[in-house]
Amino acid sequence: MTAPVTATVHRHDVLILGSGAAGLSLALRLHPALSVAMVSKRDLSEGSTRYAQGGISAVLDAQDSLESHVQDTLTAGAGLCDSQVVRQVVEHGPENIRWLLDQGVAFTRDAQSASSEGYHLTQEGGHSHRRVVHAADATGAAVAATLESRVRERPGVSLHEQHIAVDLITSRHLGETNTHRCVGAYVLNLATGRVETFLARFIMLATGGANKVYLYTSNPDVSTGDGIAMAWRAGCRVANMEFMQFHPTCLYHPLARSYLISEALRGEGARLLLPDGERFMPRFDPRAELAPRDIVARAIDHEMKRLGSECVYLDISHRPADFVLSHFPTIHARLLELGIDITREPIPVVPAAHYTSGGVMVDQQARTDLQGLYASGETAYTGLHGANRMASNSLLECLVYSEMAAADIACQMGKHQALPDAPAWDESRVTEPDEEVVVTHNWDELRRFMWDYVGIVRTNKRLQRAKRRVDLLHQEVIEYYSNFRVSNDLIELRNLRDVADLIIQSALRRRESRGLHYTLDFPDKDPSQLAPTILIPDGYRPRHRG
Ligand code: FAD
Ligand code: SIN
Repeated sequence: MTAPVTATVHRHDVLILGSGAAGLSLALRLHPALSVAMVSKRDLSEGSTRYAQGGISAVLDAQDSLESHVQDTLTAGAGLCDSQVVRQVVEHGPENIRWLLDQGVAFTRDAQSASSEGYHLTQEGGHSHRRVVHAADATGAAVAATLESRVRERPGVSLHEQHIAVDLITSRHLGETNTHRCVGAYVLNLATGRVETFLARFIMLATGGANKVYLYTSNPDVSTGDGIAMAWRAGCRVANMEFMQFHPTCLYHPLARSYLISEALRGEGARLLLPDGERFMPRFDPRAELAPRDIVARAIDHEMKRLGSECVYLDISHRPADFVLSHFPTIHARLLELGIDITREPIPVVPAAHYTSGGVMVDQQARTDLQGLYASGETAYTGLHGANRMASNSLLECLVYSEMAAADIACQMGKHQALPDAPAWDESRVTEPDEEVVVTHNWDELRRFMWDYVGIVRTNKRLQRAKRRVDLLHQEVIEYYSNFRVSNDLIELRNLRDVADLIIQSALRRRESRGLHYTLDFPDKDPSQLAPTILIPDGYRPRHRG
């Protein structure tokens, strides 16, 4: 007889779930006296952050102004941004770029420019000035590598890679009826297959977006909406989930899935062309290729459907080859491997799911509805993006909201609060999974019907169809989850199912077209719908803010 395995329990001041820009920057911003656990479901470096290309928006040029950045963000957000939040994020932009420079991020310099603190600023859709600081065309890789190495050398931070959070531990698990708090998370150790208990006074959800809910996406495999689904199940409100952003230009090539062609190419003059070479964006918007993303993605979708073509083309070959090589070395090298020389020929592109503009509702200190639980980055809904995120405002939001969370935690850390004991993860009624094919089949089906029915152009009928399917999947996933030992794929499928449901419910509620949500049944904006779509979970209790 083997001895029963004792459940592993970790106790820390702060538990950070996720290791992208939001998670890493929080770890570095926290007071050094705090003990921190960082949990990440793959290697620390994996996540959307490392793939970011274009850059980070911030007002660094003397010709630019905070007011202009605020106005551009509000315009892109199509009436749904929270203007106080926009101002807060924009105002904290320049100091966050300086903080990244202090950490050692090597942004591209421009010796010619006297007015931009010596950094080269690029242009992207919706911005009326050059204000995107970047590290050539691989900004995310530079940010992720620098912050990761700083976190790895920081005392007091224990790292748990290949660990996937399953669910948050809340008052419900503790049997407390008079509190509404989060005290940790159950986490599956992917090496041992055992679920461990992580307890902490402060918990940060920094698990990124949910774009893997669609068949075609620019995102890495980890973007399965885990944080949004966990927070929703734990009793937090989520908002604006109908506003899923489709990036207009992902590479269309049989050998390269999920490869983005940065908007910065359009910022530096690239043109969108039909298969016969006609430039089409000026027919759709006076800003042409530099219109906000929702407009460009819809125009491409429209032209592809009208012509029955599989892709359109993005062409920067009219710019001098040395300019293209110096600005876009990574994209140039990757495409050359696939036989496309961007200095000489156009790039085949299609739109793909790129960014989750909605998420877990937080206040301006990154606090969610549960005491002790924070959210930052793509997991969170702050009010910054409204109905459409402006390019390069996302990494900025990660940095600013993690800075805000660190400041709030610093204010709370002096207050004594003992960590409770939580029940260990109960596996007494589950067995080994019998048919993994159920998980892979449901995963594929979900992503396909989300693409077909809840994509760039929606209708009520398509949304209702998707709702019926997502409800059926709920039964199957819950049954599977209740009977079998949890695995990485099952955890992600359960979360994707929950997030798909939140997207569909939100899309059904918005009976107008605005920003990223476009429906043929209500093709115009309705001025009476100028509010975020807020979904309220069972058991939600308004939080006493203190
Ligand atoms: P991520 O960087 O995605 O990190 C999430 C982390 O959470 C990962 O470590 C992941 O493994 C972990 N995780 C997830 N679930 C769990 C779980 N259950 N348990 C444990 N760990 C978990 N934005 C810009 O502003 N500028 C750009 O130029 C830009 N370019 C982009 C290019 C691409 C190709 C993509 C995909 C996105 C781009 N974006 C850009 C968007 C931006 O990169 C992301 O919004 C941002 O990086 C999100 O950071 P994050 O920390 O919230 O999440
Ligand atoms: C890009 O480089 O086009 C991505 C920028 C972003 O998503 O903000």
